[in-house]
Amino acid sequence: MSPASPQPVIRDAGPADIDIIRDLADRIWRQCYPGIITVEQIDYMLGWMYAAEKIRSEMTSCQAHYLLISPTEAAPPAGFAAHGPGEAPGDWLLHKLYIEPAHQRTGLGSALITAVLREAAQSGAKHLSLRVNRANAPAIGTYRRHGFVVMATDRADIGGGFVMDDYVMNRPIGPDTFLTNP
Ligand SMILES: CC(C)(COP(=O)(O)OP(=O)(O)OC[C@H]1O[C@@H](n2cnc3c(N)ncnc32)[C@H](O)[C@@H]1OP(=O)(O)O)[C@@H](O)C(=O)NCCC(=O)NCCS
Repeated sequence: MSPASPQPVIRDAGPADIDIIRDLADRIWRQCYPGIITVEQIDYMLGWMYAAEKIRSEMTSCQAHYLLISPTEAAPPAGFAAHGPGEAPGDWLLHKLYIEPAHQRTGLGSALITAVLREAAQSGAKHLSLRVNRANAPAIGTYRRHGFVVMATDRADIGGGFVMDDYVMNRPIGPDTFLTNP
């Protein structure tokens, strides 16, 4: 009998993990976003969205719940997600989802989406929404496969002369949410 294949391990991240999250974000963004946004915009958005104090404040206010994923129990984290309640009752937001390129297409992103859906469902959410750059075809494809559909386009001025040119995607959370096996 062959041994069971190692399962990824997801854990909650707290303030002690901020440096790990910042380091992952820096490496993943600089590998994945050139060609989608400029290097100048990558620098600007990393400085804005991943400032240690901003992440700490999101964590301590429970605005965003961060998760870290490792491919095996013994391996260091290879990606992360951040999610939390939306403004309207029943809304839940997937703020961030990033997997290191060397570990992409191995199911880690899907495992994090499933974990976020589970937590959102337990909190009574009825919809999970996210924003994704309109030029980010691989991520859009993954989200579609997980039942998300494009609800709107949104071009947001984020200062510094930059814009976020996004799709807003959304999927319902219902009784059949955990019956699919992506
Ligand atoms: C988008 C992203 C989060 C998806 O995470 P991932 O871990 O690569 O996702 P998965 O491995 O679960 O699934 C991705 C694809 O790999 C395929 N896959 C999963 N396991 C696989 C395996 N063992 N072997 C081959 N392919 C596999 C899936 O079928 C899926 O195909 P699809 O994209 O055609 O639907 C990740 O690619 C990423 O971090 N990208 C860069 C940053 C980014 O764009 N983040 C999203 C910002 S909104």
